[in-house]
Amino acid sequence: MNLDDIRYRVRGLARKDQLQKQLHKTDDDLLPWSDWLFVVSWLAYASAGVAVYYAAQVPRAANDLPPSHPVRVFMEEHVQILGFLDELEKAAQGAQKSAAGYEPGGPARGNLVTLAAKLLGAEPHHQREEQALFPRMEDAGVEGPPHVMRMEHDILRKAKHALEDLVKSGQAADAAFVERLGEIADTIVGTLRAHIHKEDNILYPMALQAVPPGEWAGIIADCERIGPCEWSKR
Ligand SMILES: [Fe+2]
Ligand SMILES: [Fe+2]
Repeated sequence: MNLDDIRYRVRGLARKDQLQKQLHKTDDDLLPWSDWLFVVSWLAYASAGVAVYYAAQVPRAANDLPPSHPVRVFMEEHVQILGFLDELEKAAQGAQKSAAGYEPGGPARGNLVTLAAKLLGAEPHHQREEQALFPRMEDAGVEGPPHVMRMEHDILRKAKHALEDLVKSGQAADAAFVERLGEIADTIVGTLRAHIHKEDNILYPMALQAVPPGEWAGIIADCERIGPCEWSKR
């Protein structure tokens, strides 16, 4: 075997090796795992960017919306309701420290009667949500969050009526009264604060994104038909 024969055989082996590599190509060889990792990372990055862009388009505060926008009205009413909740929390804590004044006809009892009326006076707010806003969200395919909010409204209605019944009753400001007042106040304050937080930060931004622009005129008309809360500053 001369030198040319050896060169010829080496070239043949090289060609054979290349051919075998091509024949045994796998899917991994088509796009190495590191490239897949890059593609997946890029897609995740791009979708996060799109999400951030759309989130930035949704107003986060009442001031971002026109003054007459139903969602701005809801959020401003929430601020007033949160003030009532602070008053109720303080009243229940005050009764635990000293029940003086909480006897029927007493000044602290009178304040509780007024407070219960203000809390029940938020009913038009909840009805506007239930009859004007939620149905449009449900029509747009957002069903879960409005369903949860309706359930919480029902819990709150019962608790507010229980508060009114208790404070308007002739029951003396004894230990049983103070304990019952504390229980009802805990339910109303805890449930309604969390409810408002969810509506302001999750449900309303969802509504602003999901409800088609053409539907808002109908929402405004329904809100006007139901009317404002008695204590509303609007
Ligand atoms: Fe609500
Ligand atoms: Fe609300």
